[in-house]
Amino acid sequence: MKEKIAQLKEQFNQRIDPIEHRDELERVKNEYIGRKGYVTQMLKEIALIPKEDRPKIGQLLNKTKQEIQHIISEKEKNFSKQVGKSKEIFDITIPGRNFGMGTVHPIELILRQTQEIFLGMGFRFVDGPEIELDYYNFEGLNIPKDHPARDDQDSFYINPEVLLRTQTSPMQVRTMEKQPAPVRIISTGKCYRRDSIDSTHTPMFHQIEGLAVDKDISLSDLKGVITEFCKQVFGKDRKVRFRPGYFPFVEPGAEVDVSCGLCNGKGCRSCGHTGWLEIMGAGMVHPNVLEMAGYDSEKLTGFAFGMGVERIAMLKYGINDIRLFFENDLRFLTQFK
Ligand code: DAH
Repeated sequence: MKEKIAQLKEQFNQRIDPIEHRDELERVKNEYIGRKGYVTQMLKEIALIPKEDRPKIGQLLNKTKQEIQHIISEKEKNFSKQVGKSKEIFDITIPGRNFGMGTVHPIELILRQTQEIFLGMGFRFVDGPEIELDYYNFEGLNIPKDHPARDDQDSFYINPEVLLRTQTSPMQVRTMEKQPAPVRIISTGKCYRRDSIDSTHTPMFHQIEGLAVDKDISLSDLKGVITEFCKQVFGKDRKVRFRPGYFPFVEPGAEVDVSCGLCNGKGCRSCGHTGWLEIMGAGMVHPNVLEMAGYDSEKLTGFAFGMGVERIAMLKYGINDIRLFFENDLRFLTQFK
């Protein structure tokens, strides 16, 4: 048994010296002092030798085990020190793991660009609630309970006085209630209507709202601001036109069109052969709206406008189905870097 132990030690010394890799060291460690290793095996064999020899052999074996353990841990320490220096342990040329960086959603891109454009023209950004009072969503905008304009905006009501906002226009009323003129704000966010889903409708969508109120604000101020916005979003060569349109909270009211970028206004399939694409509603703030918010409509005038962000994005990027924005398909989303 003594001899066997000496042999084991000798063999171990030969194995351990040339080891250069941590894996191999781990393997040899297991082979010798692991649960099923040689040393453990031999400790069990002690039971088989004569009783009087057992203490001595036991001591010798334990001492050998300690020596082996010591040599191995010294070597382990050495390896730890070497990490980073040795090419074989740490190969800096192996490509890293891809973290899959996201891209900004096209709707968010339009929102950011819009905010930048209007902030540049002296507008301030205000944020408002998506769960809104009937008063702000309709009544304060000159749309009383029995008004037929409510039919156009099938709403999600929570109770008779509370609903998911159908438009961002309530922020006009909320802002005017809070501050005296002059006002120059834009507000953006999600709106909700009970529309069935198709290529141009989703029950949740985004709007951008603008309002300016001051002394002597006129329709030409509205035209100037909107024209500048359209040129910055769609390009300098695009034309803008205002058609009469009806919205209860403006008088006069207008629908704003931008010339079709595909046919340059000549008329093609994408613009319904009219040469124009409708992009927003706008107008001069109705005196009733000013008065209800506590403003003197004899002294103050203002303009307002509102547009659908999905529609702007679809026209700008040539997207033909609104559902693409909400399907989270990376093949679509990663195109907008
Ligand atoms: N809120 C209107 C809608 O959702 C759009 C709109 C039209 C907003 C005219 C305005 C405006 O501020 O003046 O259809």
